[in-house]
Amino acid sequence: MEAQKGKWETIYIQHFREEARPLKYYLDQMEGYQALKKCLTMTPDDIINEVKKSNLRGRGGAGFPTGTKWGFIPKQSAKPKYVVCNADESEPGTFKDRDLMRYTPHLLIEGMVIAGHAIGANVGYIYIRGEYTREAKLLDEAINEAYAKGYLGNDVLGTGFKFDLTVHRGAGAYICGEETGLLNSLEGKRGEPRVKPPFPAQAGAFGGPTIVNNVETLCAVPFIMRRGGEWFAKFGKFEKSGGTRLFCVSGHVKKPGLYELPAGAVTIRELIYDYCGGILDDKPLKAVIPGGSSAPVLTASEIDVALDIEPMMKAKTMLGSAGIMVVAEGFDVVKLIRRITKFYAHESCGQCTPCREGCRWMEEILGRIMDGKGKRQDTEMLLSIADNINGKTLCALGDAAAGPVISFVTKFKPDFEAKMPGGTHA
Ligand SMILES: Cc1cc2nc3c(=O)[nH]c(=O)nc-3n(C[C@H](O)[C@H](O)[C@H](O)COP(=O)(O)O)c2cc1C
Repeated sequence: MEAQKGKWETIYIQHFREEARPLKYYLDQMEGYQALKKCLTMTPDDIINEVKKSNLRGRGGAGFPTGTKWGFIPKQSAKPKYVVCNADESEPGTFKDRDLMRYTPHLLIEGMVIAGHAIGANVGYIYIRGEYTREAKLLDEAINEAYAKGYLGNDVLGTGFKFDLTVHRGAGAYICGEETGLLNSLEGKRGEPRVKPPFPAQAGAFGGPTIVNNVETLCAVPFIMRRGGEWFAKFGKFEKSGGTRLFCVSGHVKKPGLYELPAGAVTIRELIYDYCGGILDDKPLKAVIPGGSSAPVLTASEIDVALDIEPMMKAKTMLGSAGIMVVAEGFDVVKLIRRITKFYAHESCGQCTPCREGCRWMEEILGRIMDGKGKRQDTEMLLSIADNINGKTLCALGDAAAGPVISFVTKFKPDFEAKMPGGTHA
C-alpha cells in the first residue's frame, strides 16, 4: 500500500499502517469519537447542513451528494428508521472499503452513529460481503468495544440517544451491493433489486426510511464533523466534489495498490506514471478501466482526464468505485471483456429479461470469438444486444454489463476482427 507523502494531506491512508487499529489508537491518534461527542450536542439539521457543505458525494459508485440523501429522510415516521452501510464491495477492481474496515473499524462505527443521530435512526447495519471474514470479525470486535465504552447502546455517551449496530454478512453475490438488493437480502429475502420508487429514504429496510451509504462515505463523516464541511470541501479541485478519494489501482503498473488523492487533483495519466511508477516492463499502455469493471474503457490516448465524477462523465466513462485497472500493450482485450462479461452474466439476478438473457448472449458470442469461431456480424450483434440491455432493467447491473461491451467493441474493433476466421492477427 502506498501512502502519498508531501504534496497533499491524507485523511485515511496515513492510519493504514499495521493490523487493525485498536480503540486506543483511534482515541489517541485520530481524535476518535470527538465528532460524535460534538454531534450529540447539535441538531440533526445542523449535522446534515455540515455534510452538505462538505460536498461529500457517495463513494459507492453513483456519486450522489450525501447530505442531500440524508435530507430526504422524513422527520416523522411511523416506522423505525435505519442506517445501512454498504460494505458489499463486490465491484471487480475495488478494494478500498476492505482496508478502511480492516485498519480503522471505529471510524466507520463513529460515522454510522453520527448518521443515526442526523436522521433519527436508532438501528444500523453493516452489510459486509461474505468473503470479508476477517473484516467482519474485526468489526464485531470493534462494535463490542464501542458498546463497552458507551459509544453504542441504549445511552450513547450518557445523552439518552440509543443506537444499536449489527454486522450482517452477505453470501457472495454482486447484486447484493445494489442498495435495494442489499435491503432484500438483509431482510432474509432473495437479493433481488426492488422497483423504485419508493426509494430507500421513503421505504427501505423493513419498510422504514433508510439511508444506504458506502463504507468510504460514512468514514468521511467523523472527519467532516470534527474539522468542518468547508475543510473537507476544499480538498476537491472541482466545485461539486469534496474530500480525498481512495483509488484502487491494479493491473499492469509497477506499484499497484491503494492511493489517496484529493478529488480531481490528478489525471489518470499522472496517477499511472507519477504515482504508480508507470507500466510494468515499461511497455506502452493499451487501455484503462477507470471506475471498477462496469466503467467504459478508455484507450491510451484518452487518459488526460481528471479523476473526478464530472470530468469522467464528460469522457463518456465513470469514476464509479474508483477501481482503476491498467492494461499494457500485448494483453488480449477481447479475453478481458469476455471475462468481465462472464462475471456480469453470472451475477445477473435474472429478474429482468434483457439482463438475464442479454448478458448470457454477449458472453456466448465473446466466447466463440475467443475460440476463433466468430462470425463477421458478431461485433454488430454485440452492440445491438448491449443497446437492448442498457437502461432497460430495474437496476444498473444491466448498464454495468452493457457499457463495457459497447466501449471495448467500439474502441478495439481491430482486436476483435483479428480473431475472426480469416482475420489478420493484431
Ligand atoms: C449492481 C450494483 C452493485 C453495486 N455494488 C455496490 C457495492 O458493492 N458497494 C457500494 O457501496 N455500492 C454499490 N452499488 C451502489 C449502491 O446501489 C448505492 O448506490 C450505494 O451503496 C450508495 O451509497 P453512497 O451514496 O455512499 O455511494 C452497486 C450498484 C449496483 C447497481
